[in-house]
Amino acid sequence: MSSRTVRVGLLGCGHVGSALVRLVTQHGDEIETRTGIRLVVTRVAVRNLARERDVDLDPDIFTHDGLAVATAEDVDVVVEVIGGIEPAREHIVEALKAGKPVVTANKELLANVGRELFETAEGAGLDLLFEAAVAGGIPIIRPLRESLAGDRIRRVMGIVNGTTNFILSRMAESGASFSDALAEAQTLGFAERDPTADVEGFDAAAKAAIIASIAFGARVVAGDVYREGISELTDAEIASAAELGYAVKLLAVAEETDAGIAVRVHPTMIPLTHPLASVRESFNALFVEADAVGQLMFYGRGAGGDPTASAVLGDVIDAAKNVVSGARGATVGTLVRKPIRPIDEVESQFYLQLEAADRPGVLAAIAERFGARGVSIKSMQQEGIGSEARLIFITHGAREADLRATVHDLREVGAVHRVGSILRVMGEA
Ligand SMILES: NC(=O)c1ccc[n+]([C@@H]2O[C@H](COP(=O)([O-])OP(=O)(O)OC[C@H]3O[C@@H](n4cnc5c(N)ncnc54)[C@H](OP(=O)(O)O)[C@@H]3O)[C@@H](O)[C@H]2O)c1
Repeated sequence: MSSRTVRVGLLGCGHVGSALVRLVTQHGDEIETRTGIRLVVTRVAVRNLARERDVDLDPDIFTHDGLAVATAEDVDVVVEVIGGIEPAREHIVEALKAGKPVVTANKELLANVGRELFETAEGAGLDLLFEAAVAGGIPIIRPLRESLAGDRIRRVMGIVNGTTNFILSRMAESGASFSDALAEAQTLGFAERDPTADVEGFDAAAKAAIIASIAFGARVVAGDVYREGISELTDAEIASAAELGYAVKLLAVAEETDAGIAVRVHPTMIPLTHPLASVRESFNALFVEADAVGQLMFYGRGAGGDPTASAVLGDVIDAAKNVVSGARGATVGTLVRKPIRPIDEVESQFYLQLEAADRPGVLAAIAERFGARGVSIKSMQQEGIGSEARLIFITHGAREADLRATVHDLREVGAVHRVGSILRVMGEA
């Protein structure tokens, strides 16, 4: 087979960009044997030209000028691994206008201005590929977009943030507090010094928006995603969930029903028997439910330079094949406007912990408040704590608004001294 050279212009050469360059160097011969394509990095844009980088590239191909790389004559495929909105957005748009397919790992950009970029790519008939933007090295975008294109996806539930999964694993397995587990994650390099984007669920919400857009062919942006983080969770709550047979995970959930699309990120109790419950440490996983195929699970490293670069390189090879064959690039299709259901209307099962006076009639008064709001109790556990009782309820499926109204009513009951944690419960058979 005669080989064709495809020239790559790299925007950013940090964790992911430098890992990509090393993979291209190490696997270049094998890629050429398999595909007939020789990938060559011809230009690289960075912020700091003086920084030492562990890459085997001619220093003369480095520049500050990202726009020049995005539009260069000697670049066939542009890879954006700068991150953030600007200048990444502008560079991608200009690259597409200059006729170059683009590969990006940038979830923040796609979750906020994805539609503009997809439309520009679609109009130009060029690839805009982004496998690495959700769950790093795990192939999930291509399966949702291509392998399952003929099925109807109902729900995707994912552990898409390694930092929070590491923290929750530590809290569950060693009884660590949230702050101790976070400190350990920071020491080991799994958490940033400012962990807000991870622990408050912003990172997972951006990924949830991308998942929902691709799974349901809909316009979903990060602002459409209901979000709660894990910073309020206590080790006692996680231990209590474990006693009842549940793991607590920060889940990104995207669902489509006849009433519309619901996308949310929140701590969730899942049965210990559910496949997502066994996803430990900083690993990620996505659990997909579709009409014909049933249930699928994707598991692996959701972050890190090498895993992420592996997904980026897969996209670069796909884009390069289209450059060589002159084929139109793959597109995400038209993302249509579909109703996004407000969180109040979304149904879940709930876990609710109360402390109340341990005397006759109290339980009946509490049960009456649930019933009045149409929230049906699935199970109840009671344990004595001195003259008080700790009551743990798990409800059947109920609307968020009804559950919140129930909690409001319960707080008005004199014998109820404390309404504690409320968690959604998902994944019951
Ligand atoms: N790291 C991961 O595990 C992971 C996983 C999934 C997705 N991603 C995504 O991948 C992207 C890159 O992440 P990363 O971890 O590799 O980030 P990073 O290590 O901070 O690297 C960013 C790179 O962009 C360069 N840069 C910044 N501003 C620039 C500008 N205005 N013009 C040209 N270059 C500029 C930086 O230059 P200097 O080196 O000179 O500072 C650096 O080389 C992000 O969108 C991120 O969300 C990362």
